[in-house]
This record gives sequence, C-alpha cells and structure tokens, in this order.
Amino acid sequence: MLKQKLDQFAQHPTPFYLYDLGLLRTTLDTAKAEATKYGYQVHYALKANANAPILQEMLARGFGADCVSGNEVKRALEAGFPADHIVFAGVGKSDLEINLALDADIFCFNCESVQEIEVIQELAAAKGKTAQVALRINPNVDAYTHKYITTGLEENKFGINTWELESLLPQFSQWPNVKLIGLHFHIGSQITDLRAFENLCGRVNEIQNWFEAQGLSFPHLNVGGGLGVDYHHPEEKPIADFAAYFAIFNNLLDKREGQQVHFELGRALVAPSGNLISKVLYLKHGQKTNFVILDAGMTELMRPALYQAYHKVENLTSELPAMHYDVVGPICESSDCFSKGIELPETKRGDLVAIRTAGAYGEVMASGYNLRDRVQAFYLN
Ligand code: LLP
Repeated sequence: MLKQKLDQFAQHPTPFYLYDLGLLRTTLDTAKAEATKYGYQVHYALKANANAPILQEMLARGFGADCVSGNEVKRALEAGFPADHIVFAGVGKSDLEINLALDADIFCFNCESVQEIEVIQELAAAKGKTAQVALRINPNVDAYTHKYITTGLEENKFGINTWELESLLPQFSQWPNVKLIGLHFHIGSQITDLRAFENLCGRVNEIQNWFEAQGLSFPHLNVGGGLGVDYHHPEEKPIADFAAYFAIFNNLLDKREGQQVHFELGRALVAPSGNLISKVLYLKHGQKTNFVILDAGMTELMRPALYQAYHKVENLTSELPAMHYDVVGPICESSDCFSKGIELPETKRGDLVAIRTAGAYGEVMASGYNLRDRVQAFYLN
C-alpha cells in the first residue's frame, strides 16, 4: 500500500520521514471517540513528535498538550493549543522553563519533587501569580516494558514517592502561590500488557483513598500515557486498541463526583503514521551474514540502537525471492543496526526501503552525530 503512495516522492533524496495523514486522522478519530465515551480528556505528548501538521490534527480534535520542556510549551502555544490545555511534566524543570510556563498561565505543572514545588512557589510569588500543580506520584507499578522506558517503579527517578506524601501535605499551607488541583501518574511507554494499566488503576484508587482520609480530594486526575502499538503488523493492525485501553480505566478507576480524568498519549497516536524512507547504498557479504547498508542510520531513527526496538523493514522495490540480511546504517557504530537476520526480497543498490511505525520518538530523537544532515519530513494527505 505504502509503495503506491510513495510514487510522488520517488525523485526525492533519501532518507526522509513520510507521514500518512490519512492514517493519522483515522487513529486520532478512533482515540477521540473512545475517550469521549467516558468524558476523558486526552493530552497529546509532544515529545513523541512535534511537527506542525501533526499538532494541527491534534488541535482539530480538541486534544490538549502534554509538554516536558519549555520549548515544548512554546511549540504548543505557537501551534495554537490554549494555555489552559497545556500540562508540563519533567523531573528537571529549569527556572527559565518554569517562568515561561507561569507567564503563559498553563493549566498545570505536574510536579516531581518537593524542591520543585518550592521553586514554583518562589517564582510564582515573584510574579504575583498562583500556579496550579498536580503531584506526580510514583505508584511503584511495573509497566512490563523495556527498562529504559519504565518510569513508575520506585527505583526510577520520576515522581514523588508515596512515603513522602505525609510530610509533604502540611507544607502546602506555606505555599500560598501554589494550588494543588490534582494527582498525576505515568508508569512507562510501549505498554502492550494491559494488566499494567489494571494495576495502575488499583494503586490510583488506594492513593486517592489515602488522600481522602487526609481530607483532600481533587478535581483532576491524570493517569499519563503509555499505550503501546504493534510494531510487527503495520498493515494489519495499525491502530492501537483504544477501546480496550479506555474501558480498563472506566471499569477499574473508582469514580469521583465531578473529577476530570486526563490522559497523556504520545506513541499510540502518532507511531503508526510515520515511516522512515531510505535507499539501499550497498550490499556486502560478511563472514556470517549479508549486510544491506542503508542511507538512513541511528541518527535518523535511534530506537533500534537504544532499546533494541523492532521496526519492520520493507523493501518497496524488489519482488525477488527472499534472502536473509542484517539491515544496517552508515554511522560509525556497530549498534547502528535496524534489524538482524531478517528476510527481505533479494535486495540491490538503489532499492527503496521503508522502516515502519516510526512516527513516534523517531524524527524527534534524530541527532547530528557524524555531522549528518537534519532529516526532512513529508506528508501524504
Ligand atoms: N506522559 C509522560 C509524563 C511521559 O513521560 C510520557 C513519555 C508520556 C506521557 C507519553 O507516553 P507514550 O503514550 O508515548 O508512551 N523514547 C522512548 C519513549 C520515551 C517515553 C517518555 N515518556 C521510545 O522511543 O520508546
């Protein structure tokens, strides 16, 4: 399918990202419809992909913006997200970033440490403003995913640990410029074992009960993102199971009168619609394997090198019988490898290759290592 759509870009120098906006729209419409069933508010996690045409699709569906840096807050504002739909998380918000967000009057800071709240209090007081904050709590729930993208275990740097809460609460009376409006959780990314979300719901209920016992209830509850996608079946199963995902929260989260539940999804919304398009530079017969050497590398898509992540590689040109290959990039690192021992039709120099499901955490994580050019992006309507 992708092959026919690619014709119009055949003359364009590779590598480049190609986003299928049709698939993006279908994905977002599905997510929106499922979230709306329960009155849930979705914030798009800009860190997954902050390209303007993609942000416009999010905006058109009324999604908010989940940001993790001052520049992401700026990008969200420039794209047109209303400030009161912007949330700001991150363990290391600088004074400059906090000030920027205060000036913009964003909806909520998701605070990850006691010291951070103190700094927000100080900076908000200096401006004569009140900052709305949520406590990002580390629930100690396993996301059953790669250890580099697990964020909700006690050993991780994220969030405030539950044992700190008791001593934290009385301090709020000394922080008049900080208004506590909610709780925030995010346990990790690329979560495909949905039991992790069931466990999260259980912990959230316990934690909310604890707060209520202290006389505190919140108008907002943010349960983060993390829903995974099927990297193995980009054609057959491009859209994540949003229905099952949101239903878990609807079934298992204890409902609080008037409480707005928020989600922060990144990958599941954008991963399927992005492809990294590359050309075969060389074929090389190694001692144990045949190498396909692409003109794209870990500088354009770092996920395989960093997390041993699987992305389906497709030869869009050849229809010859299959052979086994290691598909590698041109960068001076042995980790610059997209896939080992995979079957592809017999491949030749000049063949066009698609690396699938690369719309999330692909282009945004590109680097200039080896002084590589910044990878370009194109859009299919
Ligand atoms: N909320 C917070 C606080 C987050 O830290 C993240 C992702 C999200 C929401 C969105 O999670 P998603 O729905 O996209 O799973 N570079 C890695 C993924 C890092 C995710 C970081 N946090 C990768 O390529 O797999």
